[in-house]
Amino acid sequence: MTSDKGKKLKRINAGLIGFGTVGTGVVKVLRENAGVIKDKLGCELVLKKIADRDTARDRGVKVDEGVLTADAMDVINDPEISIVIELVGGTGIAKTFIMEALERGKHVVTANKALLSTHGKEIFRKASEKGVDIYFEASVAGGIPVIKALREGLAANRIESLYGIINGTANYILSKMTNDGGKFEDVLRRAQEKGYAETDPSYDVDGIDTAHKLAILINLCYGTYIGLGDIFTEGIRDISQLDIKFAREFGYRIKLLAIAKSIDGRVEARVHPTMIPAAHPLAMVDGAYNAVHLRGDAVGPVMFYGLGAGMMPTASAVVADLMDICRNLNKDISNRLSPLSYTDEAVREIKIRDINSLEIPYYIRFLAVDKPGALSKISGVLGNHNISISSVIQKDRKIGGAVPLVILTHNAQERSLRDAIAEIQKMDIIHDKIVYVRIEENLGAAN
Ligand code: NDP
Ligand code: HSE
Repeated sequence: MTSDKGKKLKRINAGLIGFGTVGTGVVKVLRENAGVIKDKLGCELVLKKIADRDTARDRGVKVDEGVLTADAMDVINDPEISIVIELVGGTGIAKTFIMEALERGKHVVTANKALLSTHGKEIFRKASEKGVDIYFEASVAGGIPVIKALREGLAANRIESLYGIINGTANYILSKMTNDGGKFEDVLRRAQEKGYAETDPSYDVDGIDTAHKLAILINLCYGTYIGLGDIFTEGIRDISQLDIKFAREFGYRIKLLAIAKSIDGRVEARVHPTMIPAAHPLAMVDGAYNAVHLRGDAVGPVMFYGLGAGMMPTASAVVADLMDICRNLNKDISNRLSPLSYTDEAVREIKIRDINSLEIPYYIRFLAVDKPGALSKISGVLGNHNISISSVIQKDRKIGGAVPLVILTHNAQERSLRDAIAEIQKMDIIHDKIVYVRIEENLGAAN
């Protein structure tokens, strides 16, 4: 740090660990927008050191002599660096880097949702103990400032519901499958090439990344610490072109949704492919775009939309965090806002609603033998489990062969639905795994 207490800072040094997709974006934004950043801060924000395992690789952006280092501790131990940016990812070494930086009284910016949703409590407490700031806007929904909105702009609200498309890769895959008829594997490869996917893309495809982000959002909404284990999580692997086509016929689109709802003192926390009405604004969110639809008791419905992954949108959020910390440093303040925006004393445990008690409509697709009585056998089991049918579609005719049969239900209980599916799955008229998708009709309506 180059300032004395009380004196306006002329130069604030930051150090970056992880010169990958987002790290490169941060260097570019700081360089390309240096003028506007300086005009807003009234001081210079300098990236003094950049650490990455590989200092030889061409990142497509020029870095001054002496800035690059292969040792992250060079950044953390530099007494002139006030802010450490962690963009390595994962829950291993990244945690060590952040804890070491906090321990040395450095402010931290991170985009690491996996880490914060797993060790957020320990990390945030350390920041508070050391009286430093930790900012993490890029950890949810890339460039969309939804964390800032929850911590500040919507702070006066009790959040009644949240529906989010918060994984760019999964949304890119589903949109390409829906709009261009692309094949899952091909589209995933394209998402990886564009830098959207996690190092292990199963995090994107299996809903884990969405659940990490939902945990962070829920923690901000309700002042708590839940993690992956508290969130019911299903990914998009079972969704086929057939389901996308049927959804369209019923007037729905399929989206991987993160859902949180506060009902009677319990919070629903779930991530799964969801059929939503084609006319809902969330249904129109395509490609790597993300959107978060929130309902606050005072503000009513609010929706945020923008790019949720990729180099520059994510860097936009990281640099905005850096600028927030610079503003604090310029005023000699820190911890003005606690990480969750709740006081430590107010943070508490919440009760999560069991997925089995969910009561919503379902789409169920069977591959069933086309013969008289097949439908009545299936509907009989559904009826025995108190599940009533609202529509049935069987498109093809293949007497004695297997054809897709789709049923939409009225509101049914998840537990009953699963029991019925397990029973039907054993029938000899059923070929293949039965696929079911939850339907949300009234997203964001008042509870
Ligand atoms: P990348 O894999 O592109 O970048 C990470 C970089 O850190 C790599 O260059 C990696 O080197 C380097 N690294 C790994 N270990 C060390 C170490 N011990 N010391 C120094 N450098 C190391 O990831 P992204 O930039 O995509 O993601 C960074 C973070 O941002 C993650 O937490 C991610 O979840 C998050 N994020 C990413 C978004 C995106 O669109 N990409 C959007 C929002 C958040 P190597 O290549 O050799 O492993
Ligand atoms: N893999 C993540 C996504 C990156 O696709 O949304 C942004 O967090």
